[in-house]
Amino acid sequence: PQTPSFYDQVGGEPTFRKLVDEFYAGVATDPLLRPLYPEEDLGPAADRFALFLMQYWGGPNTYSATRGHPRLRMRHAPFRVGPAERDAWLGHMRRAVDSLGLPPEQEAELWNYLARAAYFMVNTLDDE
Ligand code: HEM
Repeated sequence: PQTPSFYDQVGGEPTFRKLVDEFYAGVATDPLLRPLYPEEDLGPAADRFALFLMQYWGGPNTYSATRGHPRLRMRHAPFRVGPAERDAWLGHMRRAVDSLGLPPEQEAELWNYLARAAYFMVNTLDDE
């Protein structure tokens, strides 16, 4: 029998939907991050992010089927992602991860990935 994917281990789609919903609830009220999002409705952005994370962790590949290759650094190029934006993003993500109440080992695996990905997404080192 195959080892279940991380996606399955943590509870599948509902877990990733909750993660992203909690995260975007924080973004919605963030004076630094909210203006970066081009759409008034954060729902579509939340959907893209949830589908990406589900695919990354071994769930359905709906993200690439609808959006193509992720190329996330390229897709973030239009947005200013400096150290302050990264840290704000990680602050909301930390609360969102905590809200899941995952076992410590899975929580660490998820968090380590998100923290590294957030540093990788920085595209300017300018001060505000
Ligand atoms: C899209 C900001 C980090 C995954 C976006 C968008 C913004 C943004 C403004 C456009 C919203 C939209 O989809 O319409 C940021 C900021 C970050 C950050 C400020 C701070 C470090 C990350 C990280 C990941 C990620 C670490 C992955 C782990 C995505 C995905 C999309 C997206 C999948 C949608 C791409 C698409 O299909 O168009 N982000 N992001 N972001 N972001 Fe981020």
